Amino acid sequence: MADKVPASVGIIMDGNGRWAKRRLLPRSAGHEAGMKRILGLVEHARARGVKYLTLYALSTENLSRPREELEGLYSLFRKYFAQYAPRLSGSGAAVKVIGDISVLPRDVRQSIADVCSQAPVQAEFTLVFAINYGSRAEIVRAANLAAGRGSLTERDFAQLLYTADVPDPDLIIRTGGELRLSNFLLWQSAYAELYFSKVLFPDFDDRRLDEALKEYSRRNRRFGRV
Ligand code: FPP
Repeated sequence: MADKVPASVGIIMDGNGRWAKRRLLPRSAGHEAGMKRILGLVEHARARGVKYLTLYALSTENLSRPREELEGLYSLFRKYFAQYAPRLSGSGAAVKVIGDISVLPRDVRQSIADVCSQAPVQAEFTLVFAINYGSRAEIVRAANLAAGRGSLTERDFAQLLYTADVPDPDLIIRTGGELRLSNFLLWQSAYAELYFSKVLFPDFDDRRLDEALKEYSRRNRRFGRV
């Protein structure tokens, strides 16, 4: 029987800085290697049958990093959303961003808006970037939107999150060796399978993704039932 494939996958892309440090390179080189890795992984995940892939590109906490590092990341976003993402949306995929992107330079926001607006009506694959995203902030924002609306169900509340039209992750992968979620999709990951890899993100290649998918296919998901 074919392996069970997670429809919705999230990746916490950690370890770019250490990858660069090991090579005596600036941290920016690690982020650039990370961006190149994204290009292949997206295609591979799609080919394997993943329908939604959410990548944690910048947390709200990351905003306190040195200006120079942030500028480097914004340049990568600029390049990705202007050059690579349009090809993706031209191939039947949708691109979406969650988080508060008002902090990004205006031209990057414009490229993001352009790409997101090109989403096909019936996308067969959706790539979601979490940028200046923090799950607690997302939940508080939703709670504020909910205030005064009376009693809401979980389903109603979920509709107020950035991820309203994205299925909860079946699988969350974190690269880079840390064993935590770091404010990523906390509400949405209630029943996600967690997979932690020591591999630094720029080295997390297609084969590593296959290992994570294989492990997922062996998990027995009971959602609280027996
Ligand atoms: C965490 O590694 C990674 C980030 C804060 C940035 C992730 C960004 C990319 C992979 C490239 C961005 C490009 C696009 C198009 C989204 P870290 O720097 O915290 O690594 P460390 O723990 O080794 O220091």
